[in-house]
Amino acid sequence: MIKALSEDLRNKISAGEVVERPASVVKELIENSIDAGSTEVSVVVEKGGHQTIQVRDNGHGMTPDQLPSSILRYHTSKIATLDDLFSINTLGFRGEALASIASVSEMSILSSNGTGEGAELPIIDGQAGDILPAAQIGGTEITIRNLFYNTPARKKFLKTPRTELRKIVDVVRRFGLAFPEISFKLMSDDRLIFHVQAENLEDRIDNMLDPTYSRNLLPLNLVKGDYAFSGFVGNLNLVRSRPGEQYLFLNRRFIKDRLMNTAVYGAYESLVKRGEYPFFVINLILPTDQVDVNVHPMKTEVRFKDEWRVFHVLKAGVNDALRTVLDTVPGFNQSFESSSQANFGNTPFLGQSFRPPAETIPTNPNQSDMDFLNPKPIQPAQVNLERAKDYASKLAGAPTDAPDTISTENIWQIHKKYIVSEINSGLVMIDQHVAHERVLYEEAIKAFESTSMASQTMLFPEVLEFSPDDFDGLLDVLPYLEKIGFKIRKQDETSIRIEAIPSEMALGNERTVIREILDNFLKEQKQYSSFQEGLAAMFACKAAIKAGDSLTREEMQELVNRLFATEHPYYCPHGRPIIVQMSLDELDGRFERH
Ligand SMILES: Nc1ncnc2c1ncn2[C@@H]1O[C@H](COP(=O)(O)OP(=O)(O)OP(=O)(O)O)[C@@H](O)[C@H]1O
Ligand SMILES: [Mg+2]
Repeated sequence: MIKALSEDLRNKISAGEVVERPASVVKELIENSIDAGSTEVSVVVEKGGHQTIQVRDNGHGMTPDQLPSSILRYHTSKIATLDDLFSINTLGFRGEALASIASVSEMSILSSNGTGEGAELPIIDGQAGDILPAAQIGGTEITIRNLFYNTPARKKFLKTPRTELRKIVDVVRRFGLAFPEISFKLMSDDRLIFHVQAENLEDRIDNMLDPTYSRNLLPLNLVKGDYAFSGFVGNLNLVRSRPGEQYLFLNRRFIKDRLMNTAVYGAYESLVKRGEYPFFVINLILPTDQVDVNVHPMKTEVRFKDEWRVFHVLKAGVNDALRTVLDTVPGFNQSFESSSQANFGNTPFLGQSFRPPAETIPTNPNQSDMDFLNPKPIQPAQVNLERAKDYASKLAGAPTDAPDTISTENIWQIHKKYIVSEINSGLVMIDQHVAHERVLYEEAIKAFESTSMASQTMLFPEVLEFSPDDFDGLLDVLPYLEKIGFKIRKQDETSIRIEAIPSEMALGNERTVIREILDNFLKEQKQYSSFQEGLAAMFACKAAIKAGDSLTREEMQELVNRLFATEHPYYCPHGRPIIVQMSLDELDGRFERH
């Protein structure tokens, strides 16, 4: 039953402006749908919501006689007494949203409750019109037209439909991530933006953000006293230089909270630095009397009764979730802080932010844009050795007297699969395939943006035939293949002649590599966030050395050096770890030397 709040209660409610823009209307309407117990919510907008916003749900609906009170200020079915204000279990509680929206738009509500008849309430100039009988729709459908028609100053303030749509997409995505068991659909100007069915959170993240995300997630699950925190944090592949993918929910309400963000960032320790933003979706479940959501009209700010306790539990939880990453990056924390005279200036040494000093970037003096067909001479291992040593000494937290720790002698290949090397604090193991994959991936991405990668000319050009379909796809991919070092000529309408191949690639592989890139690309391109990333990842995967390839000591050294020159030496483009470390402590423990 929708009832008027008492005078006393009204005064305690943090009311105010709730309709700022189309996205805030969408937010309020979806909140109502969720509060009504819906399992399906569908949103349709036109012109970024400037023209129309319609939200339909399959929730419990309202009876015809309830409809007029739903648009009255301070009328709600969600709280009734002062005590209720301290145990809010619903997203709405102020009885404010529909009244606010009705006062600045042309609105109509269609609803049916249970098996009862449906009814429609048109709203004219903020006032309820006559109720009309309507079909039974098994839920509620609210339509808003001409938002701000009567407040031209605010209408002017709206951004372009595109920008407003982006904000709407953000809002729907937040609900989608907080309620993966609910199906959400979003249409914009007859275009389908999302349609996700009930699923688990991991799948929801893939479906609403990017299908590569789930490979890079670390689960967070923790129950501490009356707190239950759950969700996922991203590994280093999901660190971005712009904020925007930090989803924090309190009792499934999206919130913004600087202190809690600090807790999460802090748990990444020096894996992220200022200006870098890790990905997370975390839901904090707290007893309702531990939080106050009645702080701000938009309800995105909240007050915790004991914010420092939440902070510490959250930080410890994220730290735990990141354990595998922190362990992969050995002794990183102390080692960096203790080596201030390092070559690296003040930049923390880590995948995302690391840039090698200019003089050690491997450069090839013979290589220019003009003659990239010339095979690139093999990099002398020494070029990067200094930096690798420097890196290793940081890994080991070694004092300055023992800088040489990725030993050039003590490096071995085992099972033609892993490279093992001693460092001061123990040993590191590197997966040769994923290490090379990472190197080639980053080189390919760079090649797409600037100069091409080196090629080796083939003595006997090879002809490849394609079906007309595939050939079309190939034409799209061709410029990129050239960038990564293939030199390809069109022979006729369905075949090409390969004249040169990337110098990194083993001769004889070109046929399968191109075929596989093309096949995978046509099939899988949607998995990657961009065309170029997908192509680079596929090339890297196909062209990288495999398990089973034996490597000379020089080749291992070069691979290690080049790996450490990449931006993400710890994870391959598919999110698998590249380096695993075992500390002396751990070994000693295994041998019961403690
Ligand atoms: N989609 C819906 N399905 C069923 N009932 C609804 C729906 N939307 C609104 N209502 C009813 O209308 C009332 C008023 O909605 P309104 O959004 O204005 O206020 P509220 O949700 O109670 O509080 P808040 O202002 O914090 O959102 C709700 O309390 C609810 O009873
Ligand atoms: Mg509401």
